[in-house]
Amino acid sequence: MAVQRTFSILKPDVTRRNLTGAINQRIEAAGLRIVAQKRVHITKAQAEAFYGVHRERPFFGELVEMMTAAPVVVQVLEGENAIQRYRDVMGATNPAKADAGTIRKDFALSMGENSVHGSDAPETAAQEIAQWFSDDEIVG
Ligand code: CMP
Repeated sequence: MAVQRTFSILKPDVTRRNLTGAINQRIEAAGLRIVAQKRVHITKAQAEAFYGVHRERPFFGELVEMMTAAPVVVQVLEGENAIQRYRDVMGATNPAKADAGTIRKDFALSMGENSVHGSDAPETAAQEIAQWFSDDEIVG
């Protein structure tokens, strides 16, 4: 499997509880390299654009409100099979269903405040990375 890049967000429930380092430790322990990272307080328009695919879902308003309530940390992660590897490290969207030892099992508060986002496919990874980082901000 080739080296890939994926996009990650450490969500407001992580920054609020000062867990950025703890989550990054899990990411690095899984063999993923953080090749770009910045802390941003995203706007409503940015959150709506990022989660546009969920616009018709009943939780959309709650999701946008949650993502704009405090800073997030956006990241590019690099490694072998990075997209699936990070999804394995994150665990299921619903923390109650996440496997033992995953980030969401150990840190997430709820289905909405589930600590981390990771891209689900190569196409979305490329789009999400491009939404938040210019090429010269990614240093592999
Ligand atoms: P994420 O992987 O970032 O993708 C979409 C996000 O929507 C998800 O993580 C959760 O934060 C949120 N989400 C998904 N399902 C629900 C739900 N049923 N109720 C509230 N938020 C949800």
